[in-house]
Order: sequence, then structure tokens, then C-alpha cells
Amino acid sequence: MDPATADVPENLKERLKASYDAMAPTYNEWAIPNSKQRVAYLDKALGYLNLENKPEAPAFLELGCGCGLPITQKLLSHPGTKVIGNDLSDTQLSLARGNLISGPEDEAAHRLELIQGDMNALAFPSESLDLVVAFYSIIHLPRTEQEALFERIAQWLKPGGHFVANFAAEEMESAVMEKWLDDRGWMFWSGWGQEQTLEKIKKAGLEVVVADIADDVVDQHSFLWVIAKR
Ligand SMILES: C[S@@+](CC[C@H](N)C(=O)[O-])C[C@H]1O[C@@H](n2cnc3c(N)ncnc32)[C@H](O)[C@@H]1O
Repeated sequence: MDPATADVPENLKERLKASYDAMAPTYNEWAIPNSKQRVAYLDKALGYLNLENKPEAPAFLELGCGCGLPITQKLLSHPGTKVIGNDLSDTQLSLARGNLISGPEDEAAHRLELIQGDMNALAFPSESLDLVVAFYSIIHLPRTEQEALFERIAQWLKPGGHFVANFAAEEMESAVMEKWLDDRGWMFWSGWGQEQTLEKIKKAGLEVVVADIADDVVDQHSFLWVIAKR
């Protein structure tokens, strides 16, 4: 069933948090076995970073990291990297903690920071991040917020740093489904569509190096996959 057009609800973030808190296991069971596309774009972005030649430990940020599988796990698997995972949902983050850290002795525990909250409220020093990753997450922000976020991501990235994310391929201001994947899965998506998304990423000061429209492996919709360089 296609999402219906609707106004952006005032309590959008609370509703999204409540949905993902309730339905995280249902979403993860659906999404994790179908992660091939996400992993392929992450690998491509990591390839551009040329990590072997970095003098200092790289810093990675993942927006809407969900339960951490497989993307945050892959980011952490690079020795010495500092990884920040952010998500609105406490349930997703507590699953991520369990999936990514085997115990207090796990050295990865010292390299991973999990931050609960709206990605829109995050702040990092300028030029402090090597890679910002956002798969199927920025699509949950109203599109005016997406535009403002591109500007902040561009500021956070070091020169030569990269941003990899996917977006709605078609323009949609506000789309809602009452029960997505789960009876408790009230859901909201928004996007500028291919042309305007790319325009806004460039306007933020990033150079688009990959812009592919691809059918999704599990979703009926196509997505725009972007890798952009600061
Ligand atoms: C479709 S899931 C994607 C999870 C993971 N990135 C993946 O590819 O499987 C969207 C995730 O984004 C989170 N999310 C939604 N809105 C958010 C926001 N404003 N700030 C931070 N996380 C958000 C949700 O809680 C959920 O875990």
C-alpha cells in the first residue's frame, strides 16, 4: 500500500520514536537480511576515504544507526576508528549496544559512542568527521530539516571527508502510513526527489561523486543513493 499525503504532525519526532521503540525488532528482522545495497554503498564511500593513508584515527558518524547491524558494526571493524551512532529510538540503541559490544572488556566499547535523540539536535566541531553515514534515516525528517542538516554535515566533515546516504527518489513533502510493517508502525517520510536533493547537497558545499537511482531490494520504492565529498 502506498503512503498517504498528510500534513507534518507537530509531534512528529515523538511519534516516530514511539513507533521505532515499539516495532524495532520487526523492522530489523525485515531489514538486516537485505542489507546488500547499504553495505555496497558504505564500501564504496570507505574506498574513497583511503583510510590506510590517514595519519590520525578516523572519526565516523552514523545518523539513524538503528540496531547497528550491519553498518555500525562494519564501521567499528576498522581498527582504531572512533564511531558515533545516533538514533531517536532507545530500543534501537539498546539493541545496538548488545549487538556491537560483547562486554566491558571489549576494546570497541572505548571507540563507540551511542547518542540517543533527534539527529537534528546533534552538534560536532567543524571539520571533525571523516565520514557521515545515513541509510533510510534522513528520509524520516521533514524535508526542510533535511536541507538544513546538509549544511551542518558539510561543516562537520573534514576536507576530503565523505557523506553517504539514501533519499526518496521521487519528490514527496509528507507521506504517512498508519501501519508500516507492524500494527504499531505509524510512519512518516519526506523528500525533495532526485534533482532537488542533489542541488541542496551541492549548495551545502559538497561535491556529489555518486548519484544513483536504484530499485530497493525490499521496498517497493526506488531510492537515490548519494556519496558526496567535502
Ligand atoms: C528505517 S530505520 C534505518 C535503520 C538503519 N540505518 C538501517 O539502515 O537499517 C530508521 C532509523 O532512523 C531512526 N530515526 C528516525 N528519525 C530520526 C531522527 N530524527 N533522528 C535520529 N534517528 C532517527 C529510527 O529510530 C530508526 O532506527
